[in-house]
Amino acid sequence: MLLNINVAKTAGFCFGVKRAVDLVYNEVQNGSKVYTYGPIIHNEEVVSDLANKGVKVIEDPEELKTLPAGTIIIRSHGVSKELQEKLSSYGHKIIDATCPYVKKIHRAVSEKSGSGQHIIIIGNQSHPEVQGIIGWCQTISQDGTSYTVIENEEEAKALNLPQDEKICIVSQTTFNYKKFQDLVEIISKKGYDIFVLNTICNATEERQTEAYQLAKQSDAMIVIGGKQSSNTRKLYDICKKECENTYYIQQLKDLDLNEFKSYRNVGITAGASTPNNIIKEVHTVMSEKSFEQLLEEEKVVKINNGDVVEGIVLGVKDDE
Ligand code: F3S
Repeated sequence: MLLNINVAKTAGFCFGVKRAVDLVYNEVQNGSKVYTYGPIIHNEEVVSDLANKGVKVIEDPEELKTLPAGTIIIRSHGVSKELQEKLSSYGHKIIDATCPYVKKIHRAVSEKSGSGQHIIIIGNQSHPEVQGIIGWCQTISQDGTSYTVIENEEEAKALNLPQDEKICIVSQTTFNYKKFQDLVEIISKKGYDIFVLNTICNATEERQTEAYQLAKQSDAMIVIGGKQSSNTRKLYDICKKECENTYYIQQLKDLDLNEFKSYRNVGITAGASTPNNIIKEVHTVMSEKSFEQLLEEEKVVKINNGDVVEGIVLGVKDDE
């Protein structure tokens, strides 16, 4: 049976990640010694390619004190104000590759908390983007804390701030839109004066919507991305709900092609940090698989009608 393969148009690098990765490669080409604060993206292949080109990942800003002069690049997740200042303080050139959409959140929380509002960040507290956003909140809210991070319904229900507190809600850019709406609704019912900024990035929303639609019409879905990538994990969860046969892979070798024998429609999508070449590789191999299956079908048909089958089929292949 011929496989029908659909690759999501929104699969792979988003604008912010592409920009950050390009900035690192450009800087390497310029001959600079390059450091990134944390891995530039959640993709082992890209990170190891950059390591081979001499890019060093810094986990602690103190490391910069002793390293030769070079360029330190802040990745698309962004960092806190304090950390940015620290990274700038050791005399290296600094390139801020924080995604402009994340920068917009930094500016908003800084301004709103500066005017006394309590910031609620809908997202995962341990994610570096959320850690960065926290670091732009100013601490002058009524209750002495300037922010609360909420990730699930239990936390939203448990929110207990002074009733006259003014609240500004923002979201981690990669948070699930539907979940964000549900959590905002729970918080809204508590009667606070609320200002909601939907800061979920369109790239994420579009990728999630397309993945959902593709998964609904597919017998199997392949979701490609690093295991550490939270946006890929979310894509996987969305697809898995709609399509039981959803596979989460980092690269082609994680895929057992034999499992695809019984599928007719296969969808492929990928997280924001998955390079195009990996998506293309999976697509190409799946397409070759279709071709082999097509040949198999021809063999079966001929065998049913006579016995010179393989000669005819292989002859066609050899002439090509
Ligand atoms: Fe930026 Fe959106 Fe990507 S916030 S890093 S373009 S997912």
